[in-house]
Amino acid sequence: MEKRGVTVWFTGLSGAGKTTITRALEQKLRDAGYSLEILDGDIVRTNLTKGLGFSKEDRDTNIRRIGFVCQLLTRNGVIVLVSAISPYREIREEVKGKIGDFVEVFVNAPLNVCEDRDVKGLYKKARAGEIKSFTGIDDPYEPPLNPEVECRTDLESLEESVNKVWQKLEEMGYLA
Ligand code: PPS
Ligand code: MG
Repeated sequence: MEKRGVTVWFTGLSGAGKTTITRALEQKLRDAGYSLEILDGDIVRTNLTKGLGFSKEDRDTNIRRIGFVCQLLTRNGVIVLVSAISPYREIREEVKGKIGDFVEVFVNAPLNVCEDRDVKGLYKKARAGEIKSFTGIDDPYEPPLNPEVECRTDLESLEESVNKVWQKLEEMGYLA
């Protein structure tokens, strides 16, 4: 049977849990025999989009390049998990339109929760003015209006979040 590719796009604030959920979902998919690829903003920015910063223009370029790779993989039957803040709604919609087989996951935790977690110490630096244009502090984040899945990582367990995405993929016929 032909495999249906899909891009599963995790958007949300820094520290909301995008990377954690994609890693856990990756493991679950691999255990079930699926092959997949992961594009994580933090990693992509060290190669494919190296040299880009965090202005709107650079973020848009970052997202468009990630989207382009997703398009190539998805049309060849690959499951692609993207983890990128992708703060601008319009660009997410643009990428969605190009790929078609696209599942948007809003990884949602309130800013104060992300800031309390401060896994990488970046919020502290942003508050101190050592990092400029930090998403949620002095740079915008436009939440999805109609995501296929919303994971409230402050209220649900990692397993619950992963299962929600899994169920949606099953429901949409991508895990047949
Ligand atoms: S974007 O907006 O989608 O292009 O960003 P992304 O490629 O996902 O990169 C986000 C990671 O970069 C680190 N970082 C920053 N994030 C937001 N704003 C600023 N100014 C910034 N500077 C560095 C941070 O580690 C982000 O990773 P996550 O995993 O989201 O915490
Ligand atoms: Mg991350």
